[in-house]
This record gives sequence, structure tokens and C-alpha cells, in this order.
Amino acid sequence: MTFSETILQWYSLNGRDLPWRRTRDPYAVWLSEIILQQTRVAQGRAYWERFMERFPTVEQLAAATEDEVLRLWQGLGYYSRARNLHAAAKQIVSMGGFPETLEGIRSLKGVGDYTAAAIGSIAFGLPAAVVDGNVYRVLARFFGIATPVGTTAAKKEFTALAQRLLPEDSPAAFNQGMMDFGATCCTPVNPCCMTCPLQPDCQAFATGRTDLLPVKQTLSKPVERHLTYVLVRVNGEIAIHRRGPGDIWQGLWEPWLTNEVPDGARLVTSGLKHQLTHRTLFADYWIWEPSALPSLPEGYIWIQEAELDRYAKPRLIELILEYLSIPGL
Ligand code: ADE
Ligand code: SF4
Repeated sequence: MTFSETILQWYSLNGRDLPWRRTRDPYAVWLSEIILQQTRVAQGRAYWERFMERFPTVEQLAAATEDEVLRLWQGLGYYSRARNLHAAAKQIVSMGGFPETLEGIRSLKGVGDYTAAAIGSIAFGLPAAVVDGNVYRVLARFFGIATPVGTTAAKKEFTALAQRLLPEDSPAAFNQGMMDFGATCCTPVNPCCMTCPLQPDCQAFATGRTDLLPVKQTLSKPVERHLTYVLVRVNGEIAIHRRGPGDIWQGLWEPWLTNEVPDGARLVTSGLKHQLTHRTLFADYWIWEPSALPSLPEGYIWIQEAELDRYAKPRLIELILEYLSIPGL
């Protein structure tokens, strides 16, 4: 059996039964691919179900407010995905329906090469190979390729190889087979070589290099960042503001972020650690209850503390509120 036949057979026996695999509705497929861009299947699944329930069609998603989309997205991180999702829904509606070509799909906001290939192959049977971390790993090991991943050379080489291996008549099954095989068998650590159907021809296995492939470029150490929040509370009202563009958490709401803690504030928690993909955050959280409304920088609004649950917040803020047992989650 060829590599591709083995993947297809493995997929037919071991492919995961996922709700978005039971439909070819391009809207449902697209939604799943956006959610799964930076989220694991186990976590993304419930979000996909909630979105499909609340917005069964792209028209309904397009008609929602950005706040509502962000609220439903809350907890998934990478909020630009939610904003792009909403913008793309409007794009699709104005196009008169979901685009059916690779170029059309690729023109949607938030859709890159990988996502376009995934949607195109799954929803429309287009012969486009997906190339992500799972695909790099499986191909690097099986074919013994040592080109460092993350380079342009690797992208070219692995894309060409995956495209050459893609069976024209079953691109959806092959692509999803590669995803699942990489996610559940040929895993980063402890791959399933002993039960793997590709083992007889696998270069990495034959040469004892499964731990050494794929070759990774060394990443720079995550940067650390310190945030100081002051929860300003006056007569049951608190001050929050919405984060702007050009930084993490665009569009989400948070309490007063400042480097100058006012006199009279009390520290409630210090150095609370929160890991993002490329940085580690350390947050200090203070509560300040002045007797009169203080003047805050532009952009802050006053809301009832109990109204906090209507605002989409970064996970870090939720954690602090949980820690303090403040309602509004
Ligand atoms: N990750 C990204 N797309 C996926 C899909 N269609 N199935 C499973 N995992 C995925
Ligand atoms: Fe991956 Fe091991 Fe199978 Fe090779 S034999 S493809 S390394 S699981």
C-alpha cells in the first residue's frame, strides 16, 4: 500500500467522529476550521455547538453584534479570530453565498492557506492539501526530511509533497486523516510506532530518529509582561474600558490598567501568572474605593458591578474575578 492509501485506510478505521464531519454545509465547516485554528478539538467542540445553535446560518451570524460574537467566543482566546469570523460572515452574505473556489474561500477574512485548503477539500471536494504542524511531523518522520520547520524552504517542500500525495478523489478524507493521524498516533512525544501501519516504510522509525524529526528551529524565550489592574469601585459601580487595536485582547473589557496605583488602594493579589502563547503575564490586582468618582483616562465607563457579565473579558480577568468570587462570570 502507498502512503496515501494507508492514511485513507487508517482514517476509515480510526477517524474521529466529530459533529462538523457529519455535514458538508460550508458554513458549518468554515466555523469549525476557524475555531480549530488555535484550539484543540476537545475544547473547540462545545464552542462550535454553541455557535451553530445560536447562529444556524451565516446570515444570522452576520446580523449579530460584534459584542455578542465576542461573548460567545469568550474563553477561546485569539479574539481577532472572532472579529474576523464576524467580518467574514458579512463578506459571505454580500457575496450572495459561500464561495466555492479556493481563491474565493482564501479571500475571506481570517482564512489563510491552511484553512482555505481544509474548507475547500471538506466542503467542496477541492484537491487542496492541508499543511500544518501535524502534517509536517508525519511527513518529516515518514520520509526522513530534516529541513527545519518554520522556514520558507520547509513550507514549500512540505506543501509540494503533501499536494503530490493528496488523492484527487478523496481530498477531505486524506486531509482529515493526516490531521487525526498526527494528532492521535504520530504524536510529538511517544508516537504509536508499535501499532503504526506506516511503520514498515517509515524512515524515522528505521533509523531511530522519531525523537529528532521534525527538526525545529529554536524559538526565542517567551517575553514576560507585568500588568497592574485597579478595580475602582464607587457606590456599587466599577470602571472598565475596552481594549484598543495593536495589542493583546483587542475589543475585550478590563478594569483600570495603570502603572500608578493611587493612595488608598489595597492589594488583593500579586503576581498572578497567566500564560499566553508568546508571553507570560504577571498581574497585580488592587481594589480602590474612593469616596467620590475619580477622573480616569478617556475611554473608561462606569457600570454596575453586577453588569460585568454582559461584557466580554480576557480570561485573565475572569480568573481574577473567580479568585475574588466577584459575580459577573
Ligand atoms: N483541526 C483543524 N481542522 C480540523 C478538522 N477538520 N478535524 C479535526 N481537527 C482539525
Ligand atoms: Fe510516526 Fe512512528 Fe508511524 Fe513513523 S512509525 S509514521 S514515526 S508513528
